[in-house]
Amino acid sequence: MLNFKEQAGQFELFLEQQQEKGLFKGAPQNLYDPCNYMLQLGGKRIRPAVCLMAAELFNPGISEDVYWSALAVELFHNFTLVHDDIMDEAPLRRGKATVYKQYTTTAAILSGDVMNIYAYRCLQNLQPANLPEVLRLFNKTAIEVCEGQQYDMDFEQQDIVAEADYIEMIRLKTAVLLAASMQMGAICANASQEQADMIYTFGLNLGIAFQLQDDFLDSFGTEAAVGKQIGGDIQANKKTFLAINALSLADATTAMELSRLKDIKGADKLSKTLDIYQKLGVDIACKKAIEQYTSKALEALDKIDVAQERKQAFTDLLNFLMNRNS
Ligand code: IPE
Ligand code: IPE
Ligand code: MG
Ligand code: MG
Ligand code: MG
Repeated sequence: MLNFKEQAGQFELFLEQQQEKGLFKGAPQNLYDPCNYMLQLGGKRIRPAVCLMAAELFNPGISEDVYWSALAVELFHNFTLVHDDIMDEAPLRRGKATVYKQYTTTAAILSGDVMNIYAYRCLQNLQPANLPEVLRLFNKTAIEVCEGQQYDMDFEQQDIVAEADYIEMIRLKTAVLLAASMQMGAICANASQEQADMIYTFGLNLGIAFQLQDDFLDSFGTEAAVGKQIGGDIQANKKTFLAINALSLADATTAMELSRLKDIKGADKLSKTLDIYQKLGVDIACKKAIEQYTSKALEALDKIDVAQERKQAFTDLLNFLMNRNS
């Protein structure tokens, strides 16, 4: 059983192979250069790694179908990031200029589109026995991600968002793709429906914890480690777990101050909002919520019907994700 880092490495080799065979080579350069730029920036490769890990959990021999599924989810993920950075007006990603800043917004839109289509093209290579089920799951997931992303944008304009609605938003925009990555691996490894559903539940809770940590790092991380501009969520009035809980815990004076900060932009907005977050302890509340969803994930993992020692890579991954600073 390979651990997370090793599976990410296996995926990297497959990606390189595909690039040598012509993935995103050729004309027009202005379409494919941004795709290569984005892929070369790397990233953690979590989704393809967990796809491979889930497959290996149920079947020691990892088939080509699993690799194609892993590439599909990573390409899809990169497409969503390229468009997400336009939507969030983000200048930095993976420590470098975002695609629309490095090239142009029109290039970023079309290069994102083509990466998405290449993701589907990967799935063309699946065996007929796996294709319909994997495609159904992939389509459902892709639609949910769009729904989540739209809620994310809608919530920027809303003063009050319930915590349950926030959790539903991050379930859609982030968690379902992690869950589906694992379930696709499980399907290609011939896991039973029940087992494939259980690993989906594991991935969903891990994914919610993952987005909570992403929100935490956007406010309390460092640019050097995260590779993104710190405070982007605060500047955009994103309804993160931190923002929602700050509003609900604030006394009248603090609520007035938060409302004033909402209407300004800049360094003052960031430092004053962070002060309030810390005074109210929403950073600690966020860490607690991360632990809760991580425990839920562990409960689901526990129920998966394979020898406990085969699950080590997943428990290690949970620890790694909970404590990550990038
Ligand atoms: C960032 O995902 C977007 C979210 C869903 C939070 P990752 O943190 O997995 O990004 P990379 O691929 O490692 O850069
Ligand atoms: C992104 O959420 C989710 C998707 C791309 C679908 P964020 O907007 O929080 O991701 P980052 O922080 O920019 O990576
Ligand atoms: Mg973003
Ligand atoms: Mg976003
Ligand atoms: Mg974020």
